[in-house]
Amino acid sequence: MHWSNTSLLTTQLSKIFKLLIEESFPDLSQDQIAQVLEVTVSKQAGHGHYQCNSALKLSKLVKDNPRSVANKLLLKPSSLIESCEVAGPGFINITISKAFLEKELNKLLKDQRLGISATNHPKRVIVEFSSPNTAKELHVGHLRSTIIGDCLSRLFEFLGHDVLRLNHIGNWGTPFGMLIHYLKTKHPKVLTGEEKTDLTHLALWYKESRVLFDNDEKFKKSSQAQVIKLQAHEPEAILAWKKICEISRVGYQEIYDLLDVKITERGESFYHDLLEQIVDLFEKKNLVKISNGAKCVFLDDFTSKVGSPLPIIIQKSDGGYNYSSTDLSALFQRINEEKADRIIYVVDNGQSLHFQMVFKAAQLAGYYNPCKTDVDHVPFGLVLGSDGKKFKTRSGDSEKLIDLLKKSIAKATHIINERDTPSLDVEQTAKVLGINAVKYADLSSLRTKDYTFSYEKMLQFEGNTAAFLLYAYVRIVSIQTKANFKLQSLLSSQIVLTEPSETELALSIIQLREILESVAHSLLPNRLCDYLYQLAEKFHSFFRDCQVLNADEQNSRLLLCELVKRAFEIGFSILGLQTVTKM
Ligand code: ARG
Repeated sequence: MHWSNTSLLTTQLSKIFKLLIEESFPDLSQDQIAQVLEVTVSKQAGHGHYQCNSALKLSKLVKDNPRSVANKLLLKPSSLIESCEVAGPGFINITISKAFLEKELNKLLKDQRLGISATNHPKRVIVEFSSPNTAKELHVGHLRSTIIGDCLSRLFEFLGHDVLRLNHIGNWGTPFGMLIHYLKTKHPKVLTGEEKTDLTHLALWYKESRVLFDNDEKFKKSSQAQVIKLQAHEPEAILAWKKICEISRVGYQEIYDLLDVKITERGESFYHDLLEQIVDLFEKKNLVKISNGAKCVFLDDFTSKVGSPLPIIIQKSDGGYNYSSTDLSALFQRINEEKADRIIYVVDNGQSLHFQMVFKAAQLAGYYNPCKTDVDHVPFGLVLGSDGKKFKTRSGDSEKLIDLLKKSIAKATHIINERDTPSLDVEQTAKVLGINAVKYADLSSLRTKDYTFSYEKMLQFEGNTAAFLLYAYVRIVSIQTKANFKLQSLLSSQIVLTEPSETELALSIIQLREILESVAHSLLPNRLCDYLYQLAEKFHSFFRDCQVLNADEQNSRLLLCELVKRAFEIGFSILGLQTVTKM
């Protein structure tokens, strides 16, 4: 399935090379051609703008040496191609013509979205992310899910899809019996609303109730009785449960507001009327086996470490439902009621097996068909401290997310004060820099790997950081202000590329489309970060090499800057980064 609708230079070049291969090697089948066809963006300077790697693979098929094959595939100069050369063992380097780049850029001037139009065929995309557990604080593990999930949602929204952002909060099950019983005996006024409290207290009480549950038989019995009342929807129990959810919600919202993340709460409890029906469905299909009293579905290809078959438990021996039953129901609801075309679960690496089993079981039960719905678990690694272990506070507790964000803002405040920029709104700027830094550090590292959290590194103004990117952006704003830039009055001028650093920038602006497409496909936000980092570096080179104000090329260069600014704005808005105009 394609997730954006743009015509891309790589696609265009691929088509040209395909024709050329067909003509030069008429004996090859279409399958063979598809296998060897490969056009990529050149990663190194001095190797052209694009690179075709087909000659190396072709040489084996046609039994000729790669350089001689490559020589047969050289493109002639045209309105698109400036030059095309064989390099190294048989790479083909393609340089795009300046005239083509200029023409494209001048077209883009009239388009705030830089030619990346919203799709005419919007898909229903569900992005599930954040998903903390009620009565527990959000910790740094939830940070990644929240930031990555928000970024992917923003990307699909930008591409014109119909996105539903879901917070699958853990808000149902045994822990609530425990906590309700605890609060009823120790803090009854909290449950009636007479005593105000917050998530921090709730989380502490949750821990205390857990200790009592594990050590005090009487407490345990009463808690279990409380769960039964809750599951039977007794009004008093439901009221207490709602209160607990409400207190938690206020705590979460503070973080979402600070991060500027919008999300719809749809917790586990939402699916509980469906659970029985889903278990029935598996039973009707004869997929259920009883093992130790529990209803299990055994899946081919899933075995434990010792090689015994590994089941997914869909109903516990006491008749209760579990995490898997809820996920099986949620998938059913999302496919059948929400009519999702694509479902994305942004959840840590540790839950990969769980999701594989859920998806496989839903397929067996016949309600999920991978040819019709794209369902992806989007896993991510741990956040590590400088000691290489799971990120913790000095006292060894896992760091609360709210504290971490506030600390980053405080550190940003300190840095800004030291830089002493005149007439700067320190508080506002520090908030933007502090939050941007945390988000960007996460998004710019390869999602599937663990990453090391360091305030010092993420808040630097040099290197692949949010501040470095923002600095390039602020520079453009400042040039525009100095020039009293008004787009309308310059639209009769044209962009003309004279210096190599201008051509480099031009190429980057045009490539934003391919980058977004590749992120929508791979779900790897670091690709967009790498792109923006390069854009910032190229912009700084341009700024060093080319005079803008009072140069003969002033109008052209101001227009070029304007396009770079838009590329940053699109990139920042997809990454969820805020901008400032001064720093
Ligand atoms: N609440 C879970 C946790 O904190 C994450 C939920 C992930 N989503 C899901 N559909 N299972 O670990």
